[in-house]
Amino acid sequence: MVFLDPARLADLLTRLAEIDWGASRPALVAKLSPDVDDALVERLVTTLLDARIDGIAIANTTRERPADLHDANAAEAGGLSGRPLFAASTAMLARVRELTGERVTLIGIGGIASGADAYAKIRAGATAVQLYTALIYEGTALVTAIKRELARRLRSDGFGSVAAAAAAPAI
Ligand SMILES: Cc1cc2nc3c(=O)[nH]c(=O)nc-3n(C[C@H](O)[C@H](O)[C@H](O)COP(=O)(O)O)c2cc1C
Repeated sequence: MVFLDPARLADLLTRLAEIDWGASRPALVAKLSPDVDDALVERLVTTLLDARIDGIAIANTTRERPADLHDANAAEAGGLSGRPLFAASTAMLARVRELTGERVTLIGIGGIASGADAYAKIRAGATAVQLYTALIYEGTALVTAIKRELARRLRSDGFGSVAAAAAAPAI
């Protein structure tokens, strides 16, 4: 939570930039919480761009509890992941894309359980996706299914690559 403070985030990024990695500097990717308002998203993204971050991952689990969530789950503590996170995290991804343009790699995360979900993240500006919760329910065979469906959707919309779809105007 401390790094939701842009000044402290900037300080951390400065310290990371001072590390001598030699020839093998790893890519630096920051992951955003979905529980920030638009003004703070703008400040955090500006801080990350100023530090020349390599990538931004959107988003982590949420402390919010959507109104349509089953009561039993609504009462649970901790970060919520999976389907209830999809819409908000995809909207946030699109907003971050607006702010960054093509300057950094964006990784779309939150509620992906199908090729259609992965495609929606890509059309919102992600060139890579990550999933966690759906893997728990469906196992690793889901990755193959997602890749097939994604390839089909890319082809049918006339895209030759994920990057081309991510760069196209949002839908
Ligand atoms: C059990 C569990 C543990 C997680 N641990 C981490 C973690 O250590 N670091 C992190 O950045 N995100 C962590 N996450 C968040 C996921 O990487 C992901 O951002 C989030 O679950 C949304 O994706 P999903 O809807 O596909 O699960 C965790 C999620 C779950 C469900």
